[in-house]
Amino acid sequence: MNTLKVALLGCGNVGSQVARILLDDAADLASRSGARLELAGIAVRNVDAPRDVDLPRDLFTDDAETLVKDADIVIELMGGLEPARSLILRSIEHGASVVSGNKALLAADGPALYEKASAAGVELYYEAAVAGAIPILRPIRESLSGDRIKRVLGIVNGTTNYILDQMDTTGAAFEDALKAAQTLGYAEADPTADVEGLDAAAKGTLLASLAFHTTFPLDAVKCEGITGITSADIDAAKDTGFLIKLLAIAEKQPTKDGGEGVSVRVHPTLLPRTHPLAAVHGAFNAVFVEAENAGELMFYGQGAGGRPTASAVLGDVVSAARRMVSGGRGRTETTGKHLPVLGEESILTSYYIDIDAA
Ligand code: HSE
Repeated sequence: MNTLKVALLGCGNVGSQVARILLDDAADLASRSGARLELAGIAVRNVDAPRDVDLPRDLFTDDAETLVKDADIVIELMGGLEPARSLILRSIEHGASVVSGNKALLAADGPALYEKASAAGVELYYEAAVAGAIPILRPIRESLSGDRIKRVLGIVNGTTNYILDQMDTTGAAFEDALKAAQTLGYAEADPTADVEGLDAAAKGTLLASLAFHTTFPLDAVKCEGITGITSADIDAAKDTGFLIKLLAIAEKQPTKDGGEGVSVRVHPTLLPRTHPLAAVHGAFNAVFVEAENAGELMFYGQGAGGRPTASAVLGDVVSAARRMVSGGRGRTETTGKHLPVLGEESILTSYYIDIDAA
């Protein structure tokens, strides 16, 4: 079995779990990928910073540029726009496939990055960028590609769902619920992105782009967060049979000139307590899709946190590895050369014998 070198950029909540799974579940991952996935290194700002997970010290480096040069698959979990964008571009130039969970970067610059990846013949995967563990991007992009999606309603930010749920079910104060969400590892490093709805807006644009086969600019999202929601608002909603959820809503809308457009908005919404999304508690996420032929579908699961999000990252890593193996990529044990895998070499070459003509 050949080996694919995996470089990990970032070792926070999610990155440390990804590294752990790559090491602990190496045999399973290899049998599912068709290649050994060797964690070649983990690039971080401070190699001596304490980590949640005990990982071999010699894997860490602060030289991300060098690490990505020799990688077959690069996992970018640094967050933020730079240096994540430059490192992804560098990885693509070196011929690596990239798995990213960086919703802010993908929402801001996704189309340019996909174009670069496709021009270089490599893949850019980002299932972990929206709704953590929930497989939602592939179903929208692939399973529903024969249908017409009319509307997508998403609870796509675990932190705000946790806060609103705590306020609704236990009467907790906003600030206390936010602190708990931070301690539980759901919130972004700067929770402003969560509570102001910006994180949900980035995810909303990614969902809209796939659901409506378009590119949707992040600055066109109408966005309002939950910082203005008080306990009195929660109680008033409850008294009338509603609850308040922060929804990302992407839907088709007629344009002023009678054409067909798409709108994406994020705001606290009064939801009837009988709606399926009302049953989404804690930091769970759910995406409710309304399609012309399929009707209503709901995807539900853990939308934040290290292990659930790592699950989505590893799913993409296995997909990237399978694709590379079937495309003939892999390194022999001893020399590290890129050589085709038996049975797949015809993909790389055009040598064949036409038996009818022979
Ligand atoms: N801060 C994000 C959330 C993490 O709370 O949903 C997952 O993207």
